[in-house]
Amino acid sequence: MVWEEAVRVTLDLIDNVWKNKAEVTTDNAVDITLPLALFVIGSAGFGRKISFEGDLNIPVGHTMSFKDALHGVSTDLMLNVLIQKWAMSLTKRFRTMRRAFLELQKYMQEMIDERRDAQKKPERRDLFSSLLDANMEEAEGTETRLEDSELIGDIFIFLLAGHETTAHTLCFTLGLLALYPDEQELLYKNIMDALPDKRLPAGILSLFTYEDMSALSYVTAAFLETLRLFPPVPKIAKKSAEDTILVTTTTSGEKLVVPVPKGASISLHTPGLHYNPRYWKDPYEFRPQRFCEDWPRDAFLPFSGGARSCIGRRFSETEATAILTVLVLRYRIEMRDEPQFISETVEQRRERLLKATVGTTTTAFISMSFPFLC
Ligand code: HEM
Repeated sequence: MVWEEAVRVTLDLIDNVWKNKAEVTTDNAVDITLPLALFVIGSAGFGRKISFEGDLNIPVGHTMSFKDALHGVSTDLMLNVLIQKWAMSLTKRFRTMRRAFLELQKYMQEMIDERRDAQKKPERRDLFSSLLDANMEEAEGTETRLEDSELIGDIFIFLLAGHETTAHTLCFTLGLLALYPDEQELLYKNIMDALPDKRLPAGILSLFTYEDMSALSYVTAAFLETLRLFPPVPKIAKKSAEDTILVTTTTSGEKLVVPVPKGASISLHTPGLHYNPRYWKDPYEFRPQRFCEDWPRDAFLPFSGGARSCIGRRFSETEATAILTVLVLRYRIEMRDEPQFISETVEQRRERLLKATVGTTTTAFISMSFPFLC
């Protein structure tokens, strides 16, 4: 479902927004990847097909379409978390955000009610339905059964966790592919080689399916290599559950014993691990190939590790591979030429374009153009 939705939404962008133009330019590539990721989580998460074209369907009892509510909430999700209810009425932006939040809450409550009604219960495979079904299987009144408000809260977390991270990583991947055209060529070659007869047929919607994902290993590797270079969660917060000792070695090779008391706050510093030359050769280089060879699993923690690691890992890998496959098949990704930067070196360009800021997650600002390829 994630694969199908990611392909559908990317083709919707190309066909209906870009109108298959020969060249598309953007000031900030995240303006492309954020809605893509939002619509995929909206569709695969809630089982509602969302597309770029305006959604005029506002059901009775609502003042916004589902898509607008989803978009409104996701745009300002952190603001919503941070700002007190009373402050929400102060400005137009806050009022719109509050309205979107209440609207989405209402849509979700309706979905819950719909599933309670055995007669109406729709056959669905989306994340929200799975969570509801699992919760309904719990006996009523038991402690493990979630209240409706808890279910809705969990879904909001999914929404935030599930689209910003993937969107910003995809944006960095596009930037890196533009900066490393040879790598982009290898990725394109991987896609062409994965085609059944190595030729591009007329319609690409059904060209690849989820079953083909393993053949698109270089595409997935480019996404993983981006996650190594720009992990969206640079510090993963943990608390020690018991007194323990960590044993490590210093850069000069001496053994170091670090006592960690119960309750101590620990932060997993993912960039520190991902750029450590002890585990990664030429760590500052963008080399997707390393993920096609034997690579150090324990030195790669963008999704964290252990029992509480990210449950959306496969979701985002699938989504990213599908989106990149469709984009690279149809467009060449290039940096936009800007006269004021004409004399800069490749290193200066790389540094300027991939300047990351820490927002909710690591955020990318990249400007580029997409000349049509086929
Ligand atoms: C590039 C994409 C993603 C990255 C880098 C990422 C990273 C992470 C990290 C670092 C954590 C914290 C784990 C910990 O505390 O040890 C996490 C948790 C979580 N992620 Fe993701 N994530 C991504 C995509 C997704 C997607 C697509 C979804 C949903 C469809 C998702 C759902 C969640 C949820 C629900 C949790 C909380 C798990 C728990 O507390 O048990 N994530 N993610």
